[in-house]
Amino acid sequence: MAMEEKQQKKAARSSFSGRFGYVMAVVGSAVGLGSIWRFPYLAAQYGGGIFLIVYLVLTVTFGHTLLMSETALGRMTQKSPVGAFESFGKKLPFRLGGWINAIVPMLIVPYYCVIGGWVIKYLFEYLVGNSTGVAVDGYYSSFVASFTSVEVCFLLFAAMTIIAVYMGVSKGVEKVSTFMMPLLVVLGIVVSFYSVTRPGAWEGVKFFFIPNFSKFSIMTVVAAMGQMFYSLSIAMGVLYTYGSYIKKDVDVNKTSRQVEFFDTAISLLSGLMIIPAVFAFSGGNAEMLQSGPALMFITLPKVFESMGFERIVGIVFFVMVVFAALPSSISLMESGVSTFMDQTGWSRKKSCTAMGAIILLLGTACALGQNLWSFIQPFGMSILDFFDFLTSSILMPIAAIATCLLIVRAVGVRTVIKEIQQSSNFNSGKFYDFSVRFLAPVFLIVILLSSIAGALGWINI
Ligand code: PHE
Repeated sequence: MAMEEKQQKKAARSSFSGRFGYVMAVVGSAVGLGSIWRFPYLAAQYGGGIFLIVYLVLTVTFGHTLLMSETALGRMTQKSPVGAFESFGKKLPFRLGGWINAIVPMLIVPYYCVIGGWVIKYLFEYLVGNSTGVAVDGYYSSFVASFTSVEVCFLLFAAMTIIAVYMGVSKGVEKVSTFMMPLLVVLGIVVSFYSVTRPGAWEGVKFFFIPNFSKFSIMTVVAAMGQMFYSLSIAMGVLYTYGSYIKKDVDVNKTSRQVEFFDTAISLLSGLMIIPAVFAFSGGNAEMLQSGPALMFITLPKVFESMGFERIVGIVFFVMVVFAALPSSISLMESGVSTFMDQTGWSRKKSCTAMGAIILLLGTACALGQNLWSFIQPFGMSILDFFDFLTSSILMPIAAIATCLLIVRAVGVRTVIKEIQQSSNFNSGKFYDFSVRFLAPVFLIVILLSSIAGALGWINI
């Protein structure tokens, strides 16, 4: 162990051997429940094609700008977010900016583990051969109504995350996941091909791809923006940390594009697996599109059942989702642990214990919120939905504004562009400048105000 720790220390700030290792690590962190579980249900809820277009436009513009900025700032300062912000000034705004980036992952990882627990539950049911049971209407709601079931599954997923971080085996998990990723893509293609070719499914394909402008509202943009942050792991400090590990010769512009491409491809595939299936398997009941976080868990078992070999397909699919979700939850927890270590001087073990306690406490509250505590409804949402909303619609926009302000006010837009140009022939400097200086902050403020207005019931969520 001592030996391993020494090696880890040695490798501390340049642990990616090259571009490939780095891209795979960031893709591993980015591709997770965000793409597989969260994207399809939001696309279904917020009007299909119109959500998709807004999402894509945001990804290639803001998403790209922020992805590059955070990585470049991490590489420049060689620090994780709190340290990165403080290296440009010690005044309160800098500290707040860093902390807000650092706190978001700490608030996400508990409920991330609850959803990871749902995945474990479905995997378990397929393993024991209950593939028909999970496809029955009402299975999901009766599952989450039982606190014990949800909690046990949550604890299992949380334990895997905590143990991996505690024992420092994240790299191993990452390797396994990298190997699984192509398989996930292949299975995704097979299942989505099957879904799309079912009778009635074409309506779903149209719903997913053809924008219906009458469904557009400011909340479409709020949701798409939150999803983009969430899915690309932006505005939560994680990329600062990854950036601090890379060498100067890694082309930040190109690698960011690759991460966006991969992550978006998986989101699209998941959408194609799930949304057309809603039309084909629920007897044209479009109400199902509104099922929210439950959508994947209600729809996919029905698809698998009709495909035949449902037990095998179910097992393979949910194993892969576990392996896509684990590196993400590990990197979320790692980010919290490194903040504790950097800011308090605590040992890795102590910091892990602190983060573990946060996960258990908040995660249990989320699990309870679906059953015994369902009367607790902050802003009309369940506890889990509240954490999701608070992080992706409120805190992430604030964190992103903080990053823009840091670049414009303290670091200097030119300096960041130079940092990016060190290893890439990045020539969209003008757009970048305009984007961090005006476009992003103004847009982010509008988004933030809309989410607050939405939560307070002033506009329709
Ligand atoms: N992007 C991950 C997902 O889509 C979630 C995540 C966010 C992971 C931030 C790490 C850091 O599931």
